[in-house]
Amino acid sequence: MAAAAQRLVAAVVVLVACLALPAARGLNITAMLNGYPDYKMFNKYLSETKVCDEINARESITLLVLGDGPMSTLVLDADQSLAGIKNALRLHAILDYFDPKKIRGLPDADTMTDTLYQAGGDAAGKMGNVKISTLDTGKIAFASANPGGKYEATMVKAIKQMPYKLSIMEISAPIEFDGLFDTPSATNLTRLLEKAGCKRFASLITSTGVLKTFEDAMDKGLTLFAPNDDAFDAKGAPDVKKMPSADLVTLLKYHALPSYNPKPTLKTVSRAMRTLASTASGKYNITVDTRGDAVTLNTGVDKSRVAATVIDDTPVCVLTVDNLLMPVELFGDAPAAAPSPDDAAPAPSPSVADASPPAPPPADAPSKPADHKEMKASSAVALRSVVLGALATAVCSFVLL
Ligand SMILES: *[C@@H]1O[C@H](CO)[C@@H](O)[C@H](O)[C@H]1NC(C)=O
Ligand SMILES: *[C@@H]1O[C@H](CO)[C@@H](O)[C@H](O)[C@H]1NC(C)=O
Ligand SMILES: *[C@@H]1O[C@H](CO)[C@@H](O)[C@H](O)[C@H]1NC(C)=O
Repeated sequence: MAAAAQRLVAAVVVLVACLALPAARGLNITAMLNGYPDYKMFNKYLSETKVCDEINARESITLLVLGDGPMSTLVLDADQSLAGIKNALRLHAILDYFDPKKIRGLPDADTMTDTLYQAGGDAAGKMGNVKISTLDTGKIAFASANPGGKYEATMVKAIKQMPYKLSIMEISAPIEFDGLFDTPSATNLTRLLEKAGCKRFASLITSTGVLKTFEDAMDKGLTLFAPNDDAFDAKGAPDVKKMPSADLVTLLKYHALPSYNPKPTLKTVSRAMRTLASTASGKYNITVDTRGDAVTLNTGVDKSRVAATVIDDTPVCVLTVDNLLMPVELFGDAPAAAPSPDDAAPAPSPSVADASPPAPPPADAPSKPADHKEMKASSAVALRSVVLGALATAVCSFVLL
């Protein structure tokens, strides 16, 4: 008796530990769907919109996939807008496990489910439930639970069942509702930034012309880290008015990635990433550190939390950060000490370009040991997570046996 109880407790503890370790789950929906050419287009959009990263991070999901025909309909309905398609794909991901057997056994005619569409982001709290029913014809059907939602999407076949983690079913038609494809637009970056409390950043990118660089990158993918207005007054923040203009341009470009990385995607990367300031040799890279739900950007000099999402308009997203991101290549020597040589020089005008030549050598020197330290630290973290992951997987499979 006691032994059995003890075993049960141990099993529960280990199971909880397994659930808490997403790494042990290791779902890769993209790789899984690659085995089904019928859903190639669906899978392609899942990757382009990065909805795959959100699915991989979930403990329990039912994905309703579409063949290329119905998927083309959805793309047309969305006016080919990636942001609109993203909304629809998130509506097709139900945050619970349902397979045909479970659905046929459901007590109610209409079973309401929550979807990824409602989770986080702009749609948080909005309508966007999907209802499930078994029709008189015996077919399993899905519809938007919004007023007017009709059961037009029926199950074609069940594709994969991993109770109670993942279920994939093909449906005959996309689930849609009025307003599903409405998305905020990132057409005017400055206005967006001003509204989000990043006026000073907006005005700097406009006056330096960096705005144009950002706009040019928007077609291919852009992630902008916008410091809020307070960040410029924070202790240790550089005096941007005194910076040589070339350095200021670099600093501003350093606040953007030339790729689309919404917050759920940043949570899956823990490594150095290229910024718009990055050189071929990888200078001005930024390191993304993830811990649970928190994403931190590490410049080698300072760290900043990624705070809120201002806009997610695939392939562009704007996120706010608490601090200015100070690249080690520019601010490698103690940031507080940097302005003092300028102060000593009797040049009250902002054009202290002569202050820049002596700056690079001391800036370069400490950058190397800093990089080195960081690499050692990050490889230790990586090693630890590999060991932990392996341990958890081993224990989990042992208990499940
Ligand atoms: C998932 O699999 C795809 C295709 O095999 C691969 O390109 C991608 O990097 C994988 N993603 C993760 C998070 O491992
Ligand atoms: C974008 O918004 C800013 C600030 O609201 C405004 O000054 C500017 O004219 C707008 N740009 C365009 C192209 O509409
Ligand atoms: C910079 O980031 C890119 C993209 O992640 C990576 O391939 C490269 O190795 C990085 N370089 C350095 C020096 O960190």
